[in-house]
Amino acid sequence: MMKTQPSKASIRLERKHPLAIRWMHWVNFPLIFLMIWSGLLIYWNDSDNAYHHPHAVYRVGIGGVTLVRLFPAWFWKAIHAPFHVTQGLGIHFFFMWFFALNGIAYVLFLAFSGEWRFLVPEKGSLRDAIQVTLTDLHLRKEVPPQTKYNGAQRFAYTGVILMGLGMLVSGLAIYKPTQAHWLTALLGGYEMARWEHFWLAMGFVAFFLVHVTQVVLAGWNNFRSMVSGREIRATNEPSLEAERRSW
Ligand code: HEM
Repeated sequence: MMKTQPSKASIRLERKHPLAIRWMHWVNFPLIFLMIWSGLLIYWNDSDNAYHHPHAVYRVGIGGVTLVRLFPAWFWKAIHAPFHVTQGLGIHFFFMWFFALNGIAYVLFLAFSGEWRFLVPEKGSLRDAIQVTLTDLHLRKEVPPQTKYNGAQRFAYTGVILMGLGMLVSGLAIYKPTQAHWLTALLGGYEMARWEHFWLAMGFVAFFLVHVTQVVLAGWNNFRSMVSGREIRATNEPSLEAERRSW
């Protein structure tokens, strides 16, 4: 996401994000928050702090050496997690349907509107992503020309959609391990599916932190486009409407 500051004489207002994408994007934000928060309330039960399971299931370490325990006692206290397992389960199993429906609607919209062409990595996206990263790190000056999204965004957004799919599939595998036993087995068994579900959630948190940092760095014009749908673009930047007409 590059900050562009075109001179007033060479700018135009262009339709960037269709209404459906904007709605589904902003609905997704509180849903993900609720799913992660309620997921943590559930996980507390199996963490160090629980009475009956005195072992931390998830940790970051090398061999037997633990570097970080997920999560330390102060974290659980800070989010008021202790003894809210049933509340967590209720919230998780209620909002998961909305997360699934919103995600499926988003993917269907991308597919049928043709907007997926802006989002999925294409030939040259990897090179573009490397150049964008070098520019972000101030190791390169020029910004490669981009349509709606640059290579790095294409990989990040396609990646997070796949992570969403992984979240649903692994969630289903641990929600109904008996009825969906074939799915649980496909994911490597119950414990493995649980491990995948947890680390995908951590991946969402990592994506969120990078995404919001990039949005802040990209500036107001870019953020406003996800609300109003329109963006001020320089006339020498590739036209999004022209690209849409070419599909
Ligand atoms: C405070 C929270 C968030 C803010 C301020 C935010 C902001 C934005 C903005 C401004 C864009 C447009 C980028 C551009 O045009 O260059 C965008 C796109 C996107 N964001 Fe977010 N976002 C947030 C949360 C999330 C979350 C939680 C997810 C998913 C885990 C997410 C996934 C995406 C995706 C997939 C796109 C591409 C949408 C498309 O064009 O189809 N965002 N976001």
